[in-house]
Amino acid sequence: MKHSNPIIAEMFDTQQFAETGHQLINLLAAHLEANITGPSKVLNWKMPSLEDSNWYAPLPHKSTINPHGLLEKLSQEILPNNLAIHHPRNMGHQVACPLPMAALCDLVASLTNQAMAVYEAGPSATMLERQVIRWLCALINESTWNNAGGVLTSGGAQANLTALLVARQVTTSKANPSSNIWKDGIAQQSALRILASEHAHYSVSRAAGLMGLGTDSVIKIATDKNGRLDLIALKNAHQTCLENKEIIIAVVANAGCTPTGSIDLLKTVGEFCQTHDLWFHVDGAHGASALLSGIHRKKLSGIELADSVVWDGHKLMYMPAAVSAVLFKNEQHSYAAFSQDASYLFQGDNHEDEAFNLSYRTLECTKRMMALKLWAAFSLYGTAGMGALVDEAFAKAITFAEKIQAQSDFVLLMKPETNIVCFRYLHDYSTQAQTNKHQSDIRQHIIESGAFHITQVDLHGVTWLRTTLMNPFTREQDLDELLGGVASASQAVLRMAE
Ligand SMILES: Cc1ncc(COP(=O)(O)O)c(C=O)c1O
Repeated sequence: MKHSNPIIAEMFDTQQFAETGHQLINLLAAHLEANITGPSKVLNWKMPSLEDSNWYAPLPHKSTINPHGLLEKLSQEILPNNLAIHHPRNMGHQVACPLPMAALCDLVASLTNQAMAVYEAGPSATMLERQVIRWLCALINESTWNNAGGVLTSGGAQANLTALLVARQVTTSKANPSSNIWKDGIAQQSALRILASEHAHYSVSRAAGLMGLGTDSVIKIATDKNGRLDLIALKNAHQTCLENKEIIIAVVANAGCTPTGSIDLLKTVGEFCQTHDLWFHVDGAHGASALLSGIHRKKLSGIELADSVVWDGHKLMYMPAAVSAVLFKNEQHSYAAFSQDASYLFQGDNHEDEAFNLSYRTLECTKRMMALKLWAAFSLYGTAGMGALVDEAFAKAITFAEKIQAQSDFVLLMKPETNIVCFRYLHDYSTQAQTNKHQSDIRQHIIESGAFHITQVDLHGVTWLRTTLMNPFTREQDLDELLGGVASASQAVLRMAE
């Protein structure tokens, strides 16, 4: 049916949608193929301040392009100037090169726009989410997580915030049953603390800030030489809190910390939390996907002791961003984060039916149908297929680490436990500051050349080059050439400084 207003008729023209859609898919398939083959640059580096001026355009009051022009703009300007996420030499961030079928599901999510705040605003979207949550909980532990539940959120940062809100509500009402921090605020509370690995993602401190606790309420627990939370340091911090009459709302362990990918000794930390009746939160945004791997899931032994777990789909589950899960061993806890009335949304008296209205449990009101892509990936490939991606990534990290160790002018930070590898290139500088700057200069040189994408991280005053080997198309040859590229970049940087 065509609308009587020609401009609106064009906006909703289904034939144009189908024709442009077919062309778009062809364009994206060619883009994907070119990326995977990898002959072009991984990044077409341009100075952001200069590039910014190229993107200034007058506000269009009338149409400036047709759908063909849109496709042209995509193929000529937008796609070539983005980071080539599927490029074998893209080794920077912990961002998945998404499964193409999952990307198609995101198109469905966009067009059908299920609001999902309440069941009726996305019935199958809600059911898909509930199914995916059940699968993720079963992967943690089929028997001890059989009363578990949770929700999908737009990203791990929001998932961490949600888990910590729950932890705060549950622990403070346990300490003082007449208190309701959600309603009364934090003013009357004793000091609240979060004990978190020094490598905890910044979203943990940010959550503390957002919750009004202040970022200083996060006590950073030192890690050992393998980047894992040090139990003695945890015990000491716990003792200090007890002496100061502070309430610990959560202990946060990492299952794959951001800087090095190290996995904390979850069983040890979990048992400590059980002994002392502490909320145990595992940030598995990066590494919980090791549960999909027959080879690597033992690294997460003890995750089942957690009260809450965060798990990102857009990392090692190879989903388009963003899709994360926040999971609670006791499903009832998932209602504790946002205990709020909104009668225009939630009208039922029947508590059981209300469980299908996901907004009770998320920060988001309108949220995207995030589960479809995960449901599709599990259904199409099974845990075997998804686990194979994890195995591939982790094995590549070990290969790369061995290559680094075999070269006398490189230092490896630690044997990788997941797929993050940190190293530095040695140069005969007298100060740490100079050597640090040299690593940053090398990285900048490499980024600007467009040959590779890598990142860097500062740990205890030392700068390391950091790679995240996510891409199943990264070959050994790419790893060898990265090391060669780092050495050449070092020479180039030194020459420029002369
Ligand atoms: C361990 C960890 N937690 C949380 C996050 C935040 O996740 P997101 O970027 O999905 O918000 C990250 C992001 O890299 C992470 O590495």
